[in-house]
Amino acid sequence: MSGPAMENHSLSEDSIYLLSRDAAETERLNKQHHFLTALLGSNLIHPSIPKNSILAVADLGTGTGIWLEELAKNLPAVSPLDLQGFDISPSQFPPSHELHGPRNERIPLAVHDSLKPYPSEHQGRYDLVHIRLLTAGLKRDDYATVLKNARDLLKPHGYIQWEEVDETAFCTDKVPELPAITQIRQSVIKAMLAMGLSPFAPKRVHEEISKGGFENIRCETYTVAGREDLRQVATKWVVNVMQALLTPALMITGEAKNKDEAEDKVEALVDEFEMHCENALPLINFSIVVAQRLD
Ligand SMILES: C[S@@+](CC[C@H](N)C(=O)[O-])C[C@H]1O[C@@H](n2cnc3c(N)ncnc32)[C@H](O)[C@@H]1O
Repeated sequence: MSGPAMENHSLSEDSIYLLSRDAAETERLNKQHHFLTALLGSNLIHPSIPKNSILAVADLGTGTGIWLEELAKNLPAVSPLDLQGFDISPSQFPPSHELHGPRNERIPLAVHDSLKPYPSEHQGRYDLVHIRLLTAGLKRDDYATVLKNARDLLKPHGYIQWEEVDETAFCTDKVPELPAITQIRQSVIKAMLAMGLSPFAPKRVHEEISKGGFENIRCETYTVAGREDLRQVATKWVVNVMQALLTPALMITGEAKNKDEAEDKVEALVDEFEMHCENALPLINFSIVVAQRLD
């Protein structure tokens, strides 16, 4: 992908990423974390994983590191924790490249591309490898490579927990669907496919993890359906995703000639979506795939 569509987005020869990494995106990631925590009922680690056995955790594509920072507050304070974040870009790390847990434990953040094998000191070291919302940076075939590298980080029988949303993120509980919503979804799907990305990430993760190397595979989907308490925060989340994702998507699909035109179109769609959500509930489906390393 080249040209004006990608001007403000991160792309090198061997890496692709649909989102920006500026201050607004950093704020969006941190707000998103709080929305997802509310959706999951505060379970940062899936209830099927025994929390007491989790002392060493790596978070891949960690962004601002907020998941690890919050996890440190939630894990039992029995033994020293070994928490490590990795991301292909340090842009959203704090300047020191480390965070601190509630007992002042260091949580180092390191630059590493999930498509490359991890340094030997990290191999076989972790009880849990966590991945959340990496889809905007992965081509269809990259899922297998990320999984292989993630598996190598795990101790035997260690857990992987991979969380993604799919293209239904823009749906609401009203039928027939608002034409603006159909248009938004189609534009995002088209742009992601044009970039070689997968708009159906949870299915893709499940498909790839089922091919071998893992056991006790399960997938659970958390939905906003019926969660009237989440209406405002869910609407805001979708609006923020639209602003972050739809602007580049419209340029990639050619539906907007430049950034200004894309932003104007997105603003109009956002207004329509917000009005629609006064009487409709956004139906975000957030899927978690959990599995154990099989040796
Ligand atoms: C949408 S953000 C999610 C951040 C974090 N996981 C969270 O849930 O708050 C995706 C992150 O994945 C990172 N990323 C994209 N491609 C990557 C790759 N190949 N290897 C490692 N990180 C990657 C981006 O830099 C970004 O920080």
